[in-house]
Amino acid sequence: MNFPAGLVKRIVEKTGTPVYIYSAQKILDNLGAYKKQFASLQPLFCYAMKANSNGAVARLLARNGAGADVVSGGELYRALRAGFDPRKIIFSGVGKTAEELAYALRSGILFINVESFEELEALERAAAGLKLKAPVSVRINPDVDPHTHKFITTGKIGSKFGVAFKEAGRLYSFAKASRHLEPVGLHFHLGSQIDSPEPYAKALAAAANFIRRLEKDGVKLKYLDIGGGWGVKEGSEMLPPGILARTVGPAVKELGLALILEPGRSLVAAAGALAVRTLYRKKSGPKNYVITDGAMNDLIRPAFYGARHPVIPLVRRRGKSVRFDIAGPVCESGDFLAQDVGLPVPLRGDILLVLSAGAYGFSMSSQYNSRPRAAEVLITGKNSWRVVRKRETYKDLVAGEINV
Ligand SMILES: Cc1ncc(COP(=O)(O)O)c(C=O)c1O
Repeated sequence: MNFPAGLVKRIVEKTGTPVYIYSAQKILDNLGAYKKQFASLQPLFCYAMKANSNGAVARLLARNGAGADVVSGGELYRALRAGFDPRKIIFSGVGKTAEELAYALRSGILFINVESFEELEALERAAAGLKLKAPVSVRINPDVDPHTHKFITTGKIGSKFGVAFKEAGRLYSFAKASRHLEPVGLHFHLGSQIDSPEPYAKALAAAANFIRRLEKDGVKLKYLDIGGGWGVKEGSEMLPPGILARTVGPAVKELGLALILEPGRSLVAAAGALAVRTLYRKKSGPKNYVITDGAMNDLIRPAFYGARHPVIPLVRRRGKSVRFDIAGPVCESGDFLAQDVGLPVPLRGDILLVLSAGAYGFSMSSQYNSRPRAAEVLITGKNSWRVVRKRETYKDLVAGEINV
C-alpha cells in the first residue's frame, strides 16, 4: 500500500488538508521498472519535470540516475537546483524565448529540441552571442494519432508541436551549415496517456527512414529521443513498460543511436494522492454531493481533461454505498474532483484520498478563488515523511502585489 492509513492519518493531523502525499518508494519502483525493462537499450530517462516539479521529487530521481526534460527556464532552474547533471538535461517546448535559450546554452545541457525554423534561427543567434556551438535536436511531427484526449495529442499534423519531415530536412541542413549549431538528435513526443506501443512503433519507423536519409546527406545524429506519454491505467498503476521496450527495441538497436525517453506521468502519477477533508454533504435533486476542502484549483485534471481519479475514504464508514459527486468550494460548476463515485456516506471531517494524483496535480494547481496552494509531503520510509512544500498562506497570495 503506497498510502498506509495510519501514516496518512498522522500526516493530515500535522499538515491539515488539502495535502498532496507522495511515496518515494513508489517513484523509485516505477523508475526501476523502466530501467529493468529497457536494460538492453540502456536509455537515458529524462524525467518530464512538468508532471511534478517539486524539488524533493526531482532530487530523488536525479540521485537515482535520471535526467530531466524541461520546457521552460523555470523548469531548467528547478532541474539544476535539484542536482540533475546538465549533461542529462534536455530542453523541449514550442516557444522558448531568447533568454531561455541562452540560459540553456550557458548551463551546458545535453541538447535543445527545436520546434520551428524561426526557433532554430533564434538558437543560432543565442549561440553566436555566447560564442558557442548549440547541440540541437529537431522535434518532428510524425503525424501519428496516439488515440488519447485531444488536449494531450501532440504528434498529429495540425497541432502546434514539432515540424513535418520535409520541414525538418530544412532545419537539419541549416544546422549542419551553421558554425554555431550542431545537429545531434531527433525527437518526437506523441501525446500523453498512450496505452499502446503502436503509435511509438509507427513514429519510429517513419523517423528511422528519415534518419537514414539524413545520414546520406552527411548528418550523423547521436540521440533518438522518443518522448514520454506512456500511460497510467485509469486511476492506478503505470502500464507495464516491457511491451513498449520490446516494441521499440529492434528498431532502436538497428539505428544504433543512444535512446532517450521522457516519462512524466508514468513515474509519478500512482505515487501521489491528494488528501481532502469532507466539509458538508448535500443533495441537489437526484444528486448527492460531498463538498470537500480540496477543489479544482488543487487538482484540475477532472475538470480540464475529464480525468477520473479513484476516491477512497481513509476510514470506511458502515452502511451501503451511495453515489456521490465530490466537489470543492470553488465557484464553478466544473469544480469537481470526481463524479458518480460509490462511497458509504462519509461523516463531516472524514478524510478522502483522491488517488493517482502525483502527476499534473500540484504542478497544474493555482490560487484561483484566492485559495492558498496545498502542502506537499513525501513519504520517505515506513514511518517517516517530510513536508516538502509548505501550505501557502493568505500572505503568499498577495506577496508579489504592489500597492498603488
Ligand atoms: C515534450 C514532452 N515530453 C514529455 C512529456 C511527458 O509526458 P507524460 O507525462 O505523459 O509522460 C510531455 C508532456 O506533455 C512533453 O510535452
